[in-house]
Amino acid sequence: MLLLLFFGVATSRCVHEETQQHVDLLSPPPSQLPTDLRSSSLPVPGPRHPQPLRIQACYLGEPPSDGAWGPERHGMPRGAARALAAAREAAWRIRGVLAVLPVQGPLLLSRDPAQYCHAVWGDPDTPNYHRCSLLNPGYQGESCLGAKIPDAHLRGYALWPEHGPPQFVQPDGPGVQNADFLLYVRVGHTSKCHQEPSVIAYAACCQLDAEDRPLAGTIIYCAQHLPSPRLSHRDLVTATLHELLHTLGFSGQLFKRWRDCPSGLSVKENCSTRQQVTRRDKWGQLLLSTPTVSHSLAKHLGVLGVSLGGPLEEEGRLSSHWEARLFQGSIMAATFDSAQRTQLDPITLSAFQDSGWYQVNHSAAEKLLWGQGSGLAFGLVSTCGTDSSGFFCTGSGLGCHYLHLDKGICSSDPMLEGCHMYKPLANRSECWKKENGPPTGAEDPHGEIYHPQSRCFLANLTSRLLPGGETSHPSQVPWLKDAELTGRCYLHQCTQKGEYEVQAEGSPWVPCLPGKAIQMPGYYGLLYCPRDRLCQNDEGANAVTSSASLATQGLLFQLSLGLAGPPGHSLGKEQREELAETVLQALVNRSGTGRCYFHNPSINTSLVFTVQMWKFPDCQGPPVTVLYDALTLTLQKPLEVCRGEACFTTKYSKLLVSLDHTLPMSHIFLSMGLCLSLVILVGLLGTVVYQKRAALQVGPLAPLPSPDIPGTGSPTGRIMYS
Ligand SMILES: *[C@@H]1O[C@H](CO)[C@@H](O)[C@H](O)[C@H]1NC(C)=O
Ligand SMILES: *[C@@H]1O[C@H](CO)[C@@H](O)[C@H](O)[C@H]1NC(C)=O
Ligand SMILES: *[C@@H]1O[C@H](CO)[C@@H](O)[C@H](O)[C@H]1NC(C)=O
Ligand SMILES: *[C@@H]1O[C@H](CO)[C@@H](O)[C@H](O)[C@H]1NC(C)=O
Repeated sequence: MLLLLFFGVATSRCVHEETQQHVDLLSPPPSQLPTDLRSSSLPVPGPRHPQPLRIQACYLGEPPSDGAWGPERHGMPRGAARALAAAREAAWRIRGVLAVLPVQGPLLLSRDPAQYCHAVWGDPDTPNYHRCSLLNPGYQGESCLGAKIPDAHLRGYALWPEHGPPQFVQPDGPGVQNADFLLYVRVGHTSKCHQEPSVIAYAACCQLDAEDRPLAGTIIYCAQHLPSPRLSHRDLVTATLHELLHTLGFSGQLFKRWRDCPSGLSVKENCSTRQQVTRRDKWGQLLLSTPTVSHSLAKHLGVLGVSLGGPLEEEGRLSSHWEARLFQGSIMAATFDSAQRTQLDPITLSAFQDSGWYQVNHSAAEKLLWGQGSGLAFGLVSTCGTDSSGFFCTGSGLGCHYLHLDKGICSSDPMLEGCHMYKPLANRSECWKKENGPPTGAEDPHGEIYHPQSRCFLANLTSRLLPGGETSHPSQVPWLKDAELTGRCYLHQCTQKGEYEVQAEGSPWVPCLPGKAIQMPGYYGLLYCPRDRLCQNDEGANAVTSSASLATQGLLFQLSLGLAGPPGHSLGKEQREELAETVLQALVNRSGTGRCYFHNPSINTSLVFTVQMWKFPDCQGPPVTVLYDALTLTLQKPLEVCRGEACFTTKYSKLLVSLDHTLPMSHIFLSMGLCLSLVILVGLLGTVVYQKRAALQVGPLAPLPSPDIPGTGSPTGRIMYS
């Protein structure tokens, strides 16, 4: 499983099979040791119902460069903390999505008898028949994609005489507590990293449990990419999530082991190996043909009742990715451009449900916009050239990427097999990045606005104002005639689900009628309003300002700041609006959080500034708790903003936390995440800290906290004053 990031063209490709196909999948061999000799006490059988999947990420040093065992370098290489933080964040994310029957007691991995044992007793009449009679002197322990598994994580092994009790070579290790899956994390310069310089990470699964559920895997990050600022933390987490999902079951090597558990996970007796997971349709397209996947894809394409398999990419004998023509933006598509444009889509989650190993939280799915409602013929090589839904394009012109966050250029790639789509421009494609805009003060005849709330629209707007400030007449502007339509950035705001308004520089807000072209006051030309692309979630709810809506889904916090201004200073409505935006900008700058989280900044006549923070689909920045931390830290010092002569400072702040968000649960983990990023920032000092840690701990680093850490529980919906 390789993840290739071609920087610049903003596309990456994951080549999965060549890694997993060389890794043996070890299932627990029938136990060779009598249970009374096992070192670990027998676990007390607890309640057996699915619990969130506990993935323990365990840093195991650098892999040797050539696949042979070499002396381990001590300490963590540069970037290891970054990799580990990404692995833990991805693991944490999956915890909210997949549940399993929890492993009882510590998780212990198996040893491969074919490795440690040279010969077994061959006489069926002897009591120790088929047990190990001769050890392999060259046995070097177990490994997982080149990572040597610590003995502490492994079962023991023994040598058996012809008759009588065994002689232990190694007893059972203590195992890993609170784990259902072990993810070994390594950072290095492996030969794969060298052969494909654009690979940032690859992973493989190597151990299964008795029901074939993956128990352990290794992810290797190619060291050369980790220090690069062009690889954002979110991109790294998303790449990790993709690899982790391969190791957890979305893999050509694992499809054939998927199980059918019609009575649920808890009734194991009713589970059986699935008869058919993949098949080819009559045109030779490889499909993942399990029931939930079929249903979910049919629902997505708007053809409910039709039994469709999920098309897989052609990748040789087996395939581990969704077909790119149908699944642009899916976390399990073979191409990946950025975290911003990647979704943990409902069809991928359905695949995990069909694996029979997991109970899936389908409400954690992110909307897959690509192809939505486009019917049976969508995404075929034969139809993409005449696509009426507007997801594909023809030619090589400029327009908008289908998510409308970016300007795009109509182009293709090998995965698209001749179909074309608007791919983000190599440079400055993002409408939502202020820094992509023209320098302030520069004249822009097209009135573009780059802003977190801006989106790409197909348009040919040209200002009626001449540079001198006079109004032009069309005849005065020779190039005005038939200006070509192209992708341009304008502000948008949702009014309700599927409905929105747009604004160009200096224009008022104008309702955009989805599917129609509109004119903007002050401009010649037209702006096309996309249908079914913008304001698809409950983004529109950001028009709601009542604080009674705090329990509304997606609302994270409401922040109020009491401001003190110069005595006797009074502000008109427009001045208050301007001041609200200034205060918000100061808040964003100081806390380092994305502007896109904040909605409805306002200041009332008593100088109380209020703003709401929404979980915004296009703005999946840091997790809630990080925002919370950032805000509370920010508010510890009064904020001062000045407009002209008048300066305003915060007298008090009030942060109201939405009832939906149980902060204490993930608080510690995320503080830890913050520590990790601090470590990266402090560089040398951080390395020392980690060397210490790495030297002390053979096993996994600190476990993820459980939701019930004493002392951190506090009622949500609390009000904090500072
Ligand atoms: C297991 O399957 C059998 C046959 O379909 C069914 O009769 C039985 O009720 C199932 N068991 C449970 C616990 O659901
Ligand atoms: C399921 O996912 C939703 C959305 O991410 C989340 O709010 C909820 O806590 C999850 N449920 C469980 C049981 O993890
Ligand atoms: C994108 O930016 C890079 C570096 O700033 C530059 O070298 C490259 O030519 C630009 N590409 C395009 C297509 O403008
Ligand atoms: C804008 O584009 C439309 C559609 O292509 C065209 O009819 C119109 O003449 C153009 N307007 C200007 C001012 O260029």
